[in-house]
Amino acid sequence: MKKKVVVLPGDGIGQEIMDAAIQVLNKVSDTYNHNFTFEQYEIGGSSYDKYAEPLTDETVEACLQADAILLGAIGGEKWDSLPPHLRPEQGLLKIRKALNLFANIRPIKGFAPLLHASPLKESVINGSDIYIVRELTGGLYFGTPRERREDGNVAVDTLLYHREEIERIVEKGFESARIRNKHLTSVDKANVLESSRLWREIVEEKKEQYPDVKVDHMLVDSAAMKLITDPTSFDVIVTENLFGDILSDEGSVLTGSIGMLPSASLSETVGLYEPVHGSAPDIAGKGIANPLGMILSAAMMLRYSFDLNEEAERIEQAVEKSLEQGYHTADLNINNGVEVDTKKMTEVVISNL
Ligand code: IPM
Ligand code: MN
Repeated sequence: MKKKVVVLPGDGIGQEIMDAAIQVLNKVSDTYNHNFTFEQYEIGGSSYDKYAEPLTDETVEACLQADAILLGAIGGEKWDSLPPHLRPEQGLLKIRKALNLFANIRPIKGFAPLLHASPLKESVINGSDIYIVRELTGGLYFGTPRERREDGNVAVDTLLYHREEIERIVEKGFESARIRNKHLTSVDKANVLESSRLWREIVEEKKEQYPDVKVDHMLVDSAAMKLITDPTSFDVIVTENLFGDILSDEGSVLTGSIGMLPSASLSETVGLYEPVHGSAPDIAGKGIANPLGMILSAAMMLRYSFDLNEEAERIEQAVEKSLEQGYHTADLNINNGVEVDTKKMTEVVISNL
């Protein structure tokens, strides 16, 4: 299979973890006789440093031509004082919108050797396997007006959704539940927000088409509590942009490390894959970053964009085996484990492929 992948390493540890993921993909393509090519472009602070904007039209164009996109991480203190429209995050929001990446998939499943590192009791998190489907191109992140009034003393953000935007993400939620454990939890704040009432109505309409899926509605505050007190009661969660942002960070504590979590952001035609963790500027350039979230994101790319399920599973199993052998980077802790740097961690994964 011949595929063109645009890689956007971004900032901080982005380049280091991207190099690791590319090495793993090259090994997979050698083994299975695929032909993956990688074209690198800038995003975030590194794009700002070069072009004075966090995402150029040229990068967007390259992404539109690609078969899939891998993204490392963006942001860092260095760019924190820039005006809002030039901040690294703006590059990320712009690419999500430009590519219409409306569905953000964040699977939250722990690896056994890491579970003891979670601040939650193992008895609570054991067996949890959650799949968050977060709406990614609407809601408070994009609604207008978004402005300051009265000399800056009043601020407005807008939570706006069109029926079609809710329908397509809710469908994604149902479809995902259908191929997993057939349980969908739709999270909203329908006791207060009008947008949530529309959301709930649409879920009720859609469920007629998915009689095999059991649906619950849950208010976001209560879902936040349940996620860490009774995580095994969830299968697929579908929710709007900001709720999904918050719940997915919260959910990451179930796994013992946010450094392990991959994500996919999907449109009808293309996918962008990135780890859930940030750019970790404090350790950038030291060669000690955990490449596993990025490597697992590359596995998601193989599965969702290229339909290469066997190859994706090989990578996931190699990661799991490496952890079982006790190998881990400095951000993780495994009982009687061996702490290694990014390069060695990547080599171990490749040797376990
Ligand atoms: C995420 C991040 C982004 C978001 C930021 C960096 C804009 O937190 O991908 O979850 O809020 O969506
Ligand atoms: Mn977030």
